Parts: sequence; C-alpha cells; structure tokens
Amino acid sequence: MKEIDREKLPHHIAIIMDGNGRWAKKKNLSRISGHIKGVDAVREVVTACRELGIKVLTLYAFSVENWRRPKEEVTALMALLKEYLVKETEEMIRNNIRLSAIGRLEDLPLDVQNTLRETMKKTGHCDGMILNLALSYGGRSEILHAVQEILSDYQNGRVRPEEINVQRFSQYLWTHGIPDPDLLIRTSGEFRISNFLLWQIAYTELYVTETHWPDFDRKELLKAIADYQSRERRFGLTSEQLNGREE
Ligand code: IPE
Ligand code: IPE
Ligand code: MG
Repeated sequence: MKEIDREKLPHHIAIIMDGNGRWAKKKNLSRISGHIKGVDAVREVVTACRELGIKVLTLYAFSVENWRRPKEEVTALMALLKEYLVKETEEMIRNNIRLSAIGRLEDLPLDVQNTLRETMKKTGHCDGMILNLALSYGGRSEILHAVQEILSDYQNGRVRPEEINVQRFSQYLWTHGIPDPDLLIRTSGEFRISNFLLWQIAYTELYVTETHWPDFDRKELLKAIADYQSRERRFGLTSEQLNGREE
C-alpha cells in the first residue's frame, strides 16, 4: 500500500457512514446488528484519526430523513448513540478529543440530548481533535436555519445585507468555527451526498469506497487518505498557476 505523507494530511475528514444494513443482510443478520458492528468501526476510525493527527472528524450518524425509518430501528440507533457517548467519554478525555455535534439536536430524545450535553461539557477542554457528530442533520435544514438567523439579526439591526459574504454566512451554520472538510468519504458505494454538508463541501475532495461501514478500518482510512494525497486541488486555478510556473 502507498505510504501516506504525514505532512499533507487532510485537516478535516467527513464521513458518510453508509452500508450497515447491507453488511448485515449479507451475513443474514438484522439491520440492528449492522449498526452495532458499525459502532466498532466508529471507535477504530476515531482512534486512527487521532493517532494520525487529523484535527477534525465529522461523522454523519443520523440524517433528518432517517427519522422515517422503522420505529424499532430509530430507537435502536438512539440507544446505541447514547451508549457510545457514555462508554467513550473517558477515552475521549484521555485522547484529548473534544466532542461536538451539528444538526437539529432538539429533535433527539431528551435523554440523548442530556448525555450529549454532558459529554460535550466533559470534553470541552480537549484540543487534540474535534469529533463532530452529525445528528438529525440535514444540509438544507442547516442552510434554512442560517437564513432565519440572518433575517432575525437583520430585523434587530445586527447585520446589514452588504455584510453577508461567504465568510459571514458560514458563521451562521452549525459548523461555524470548523473549517470546511478537505476529504469526504462515503462507504458502501453510493455516489450521492444524501443532504450532508451541502454548503461546506464546495471544494472538498470526494472518495467513495465499496466497503460497507462495519468493515471500514484503519487500513481503509489510510487508503482514502493516500488517494486524497494523489489529487491536485486546483480551486479553479490552472495546474501551472498552482505550481508557480505562470503568473
Ligand atoms: C448507515 O447504514 C447508518 C445510518 C444511516 C444510520 P444504513 O443503515 O443506511 O445501511 P444501508 O444503506 O441500508 O446498507
Ligand atoms: C446517509 O445514509 C445518512 C447517514 C449515513 C447517517 P442513508 O442510508 O440515509 O442515505 P441514502 O438514503 O442511501 O441516500
Ligand atoms: Mg444507507
């Protein structure tokens, strides 16, 4: 396998953790068993990112659309989320990882909201890596929420229309203070965004792997990073401009 360059790591990796259901189906297991195995993959990837020195890891754990899944599956996912937070808080502190969350958090069951708040408080001083969980998250909801906040600030005289630019708009998003992802990984083969970080991925490098999320491990992560490092991020410029051969 290609060695990765430790000097050119993505600052922020975002992952659409897809394929728990298909992984389980292949093994004749319940979808929920797939989600349980998916949590182990979360642990491995969080640890690997921290060891590598990745600064921000955003995990798409539950979308606004996922509420429409069968009730038992939603309940199981919420229980797994809570269990993960309770079990991992100490490990996060030990590894200097700060937990944060984006999404319509007010939609989550109250006990999950409380656990989430607790873990965020306990890890609030950690500055080695941000583990950012997207929960009841939707990119369109996030943008609409930002527009509502801007209109409210406008009404109260806190912002003028001409002040709204890309930077200022970004400050109204749930991800304010977090730089845009450099690399977006999607597991399980679908070439779609599924309402994830619509604004923030304007210039993110995309990587899709056939591997189902429960099978995604450190090795797969390194493969994705190596692929990312082989890309030329041009941001609209020419290759010559980037390599300093032209004005
Ligand atoms: C991802 O796996 C987990 C969540 C969306 C919560 P899926 O449950 O979507 O797995 P597939 O896509 O059905 O295989
Ligand atoms: C995206 O996966 C959401 C998460 C990984 C949490 P989905 O399985 O919900 O996406 P679609 O339905 O295939 O687009
Ligand atoms: Mg899916």
